[in-house]
Amino acid sequence: MTNQGNNLDKWYSHYADRTAGLAASEVRALFAVASRPEVVSLAGGMPFVSALPKELVTGAMERVMRDSGPAALQYGSGQGLPALREHILEVMALEGIRASVDDIVVTTGSQHALELVTKLFINPGDVVLAEAPSYLTAITVFKSFQAEVSHVAMDEFGLIPQALREAITRVKAAGKTIKFLYTVPTFSNPAGVTLTWERRLEILEIARSNGILVLEDNPYGLLYFDGPPPHAMRSVEEDGVIYLGTFSKTLAPGFRVGWALAPHAIREKLILANEAAVLSPSSFTQYVIHEYLAGADWKGQIETFRGVYRERRDAMLAALEDYLPDLSWTHPAGGFYVWVTLPENLDSKSMLPRAVKELVAYTPGTAFYADGGGRNKLRLAFCYPTPEFIREGIRRLSTVINGELELLTTFSQTGPLKTVKPSASMINPPANLG
Ligand SMILES: Cc1ncc(COP(=O)(O)O)c(C=O)c1O
Repeated sequence: MTNQGNNLDKWYSHYADRTAGLAASEVRALFAVASRPEVVSLAGGMPFVSALPKELVTGAMERVMRDSGPAALQYGSGQGLPALREHILEVMALEGIRASVDDIVVTTGSQHALELVTKLFINPGDVVLAEAPSYLTAITVFKSFQAEVSHVAMDEFGLIPQALREAITRVKAAGKTIKFLYTVPTFSNPAGVTLTWERRLEILEIARSNGILVLEDNPYGLLYFDGPPPHAMRSVEEDGVIYLGTFSKTLAPGFRVGWALAPHAIREKLILANEAAVLSPSSFTQYVIHEYLAGADWKGQIETFRGVYRERRDAMLAALEDYLPDLSWTHPAGGFYVWVTLPENLDSKSMLPRAVKELVAYTPGTAFYADGGGRNKLRLAFCYPTPEFIREGIRRLSTVINGELELLTTFSQTGPLKTVKPSASMINPPANLG
């Protein structure tokens, strides 16, 4: 390739073809604006780490430095600290998974596990089946390895088995190779829906009979609000599932500790890929988490998180009911997200600048599709702002949506004007939101 460069980047023509998939995401651009304090951000999925008592972490850190300092500051195993892997078995047992400690590979967050699995399996042009909508940064990873992402429809009960069958037939008829099915079956990001037990079994059966590996990504499963969700897909199928877990949502993402549980042979390759990428995941944070799990009431702490997020979910659903009663949205029984459907003629991406001007941010639906879908959808995250801010954020959003609809009505005489149920806080919005 000749070096043509451009004005902004003289190395432009040197990049590998696969970097074409590394386009700046909507979320990335958003974070810069939405992090201004006056904006109510319903955009990012940041866990509310302030609900984790600081002493629990500093205590664990002190014990690590006192008892295992040199080892914690040293390189570690490419597979991860054995003692931590033992604890991970206990965590996964809460979701019905029985496994061997040897089949766990600790990674730098589950994001890195996503990257490693994709690196192991994807040649350019291979197909990844992914639920629609799908976790934004998983799509980015798949694209960065030049996978073709083919979406499979979901409804309020998760992935639709018949849609999966049809997608498989379609892709096979086109002569393409399906490498795996990517799914977040429990409290999905972004849709906030959960795959039913019956469908879990049916989807596993479809995958098994078609020789398709399932990549089950489960960061939110323990954050349930209304009772435990169905057990993980990995609890019934060992050989055909790679399961990803993380401490990011049940403890804190700053540790960057997640894991993959994989069938033996794949596990071997994952360890090699992990070593090639990072030598070993952070020893220090693995030791600290091990110490935390050994010494603190970690199940009680997860219960605390559940309480915080349940209250915020309730605040968001109540505010949507009050301010945007004509729209439809999902009713998550756990996790961080509500998925909203706007009237057909609204475009959540082009509406976003107006929303930010009104000091509220969300993530446009198109971010969660590889194929331009999701135009009239948006994701709202209730994990980070307080219930009062959530309510005010939804109030601002209703102003934006109603404004857009009014514009449409004025110029095209289509689309009914929204009617909004008045409530006390609409008359007196909470003060001091700066
Ligand atoms: C579905 C899903 N998978 C993976 C991740 C990555 O998590 P981490 O790398 O912090 O473990 C996230 C983070 O938001 C997520 O929502």
